[in-house]
Amino acid sequence: MFSLFKKKKKPVETAQVGGLRHIAFIMDGNGRWAQKRGLPRESGHKKGAEVFEEIVQHCFDRGISFVTVYAFSTENWSRPEREVNAIMELLADYLDRAEKRFRDYDTQLIFLGDKDRLSARLREKAIRLETISAGRKNTLNIALNYGSRDEILRACNALCAEGKHDITREDLEAHLYTSASPDPDLIVRTGGDTRISNFLLWQAAYAEFYFTKTLWPDLTKEEVDDAVADFCTRHRRFGGL
Ligand code: FPP
Repeated sequence: MFSLFKKKKKPVETAQVGGLRHIAFIMDGNGRWAQKRGLPRESGHKKGAEVFEEIVQHCFDRGISFVTVYAFSTENWSRPEREVNAIMELLADYLDRAEKRFRDYDTQLIFLGDKDRLSARLREKAIRLETISAGRKNTLNIALNYGSRDEILRACNALCAEGKHDITREDLEAHLYTSASPDPDLIVRTGGDTRISNFLLWQAAYAEFYFTKTLWPDLTKEEVDDAVADFCTRHRRFGGL
């Protein structure tokens, strides 16, 4: 089922999700999900892509305006070619469907990462979707060929090239891939590992984290609600008292 492009249901107030504006997901565990079933790893990514669509729509339905997913890191190129190609195909299929349903599309798509290494076909699709979806109500950031250290270095080099001195936080943030989104409030990592894996290192300075052993393809809307409920109990001090 492809639900991301349905007309939005009545949104709930942001207050009901504890002021959570931006949720980010490290979608880990696709390979293990497939291996447990004796399936090739690619099947895990296929199921993962279906779950991605459901979960993203659920977050928007809950009134969370910004969703970020870590789809492919700069390090993931070292995986077998067959697996890399499968993930890229899933992304291309997703973008094709997004474009077909453009009229009902209430989501702005933004790709975080260097598009230069993508195939010309995927790069063109990504740029076209970013352009036609600009200004829509919600924002979906897809981190693709993304690495946070690269992102920060790229921003620093861009500022140097502009001849900037005494660089401010605002200067740097304006050059990050995420310049159109607020910092993530909550980062959810599935798959049982408790690390950040070069994801949103700058932006996560005051993020809350939710780690779960659930493998990404097994993640349910109910568990996302649990993560949000848990977030609502956190006392965020941002360095204050
Ligand atoms: C990590 O699990 C997952 C990835 C590297 C790829 C994530 C990609 C998708 C969910 C599909 C992307 C598609 C769209 C449309 C966004 P893993 O393979 O490292 O799992 P493992 O730790 O169990 O091996």
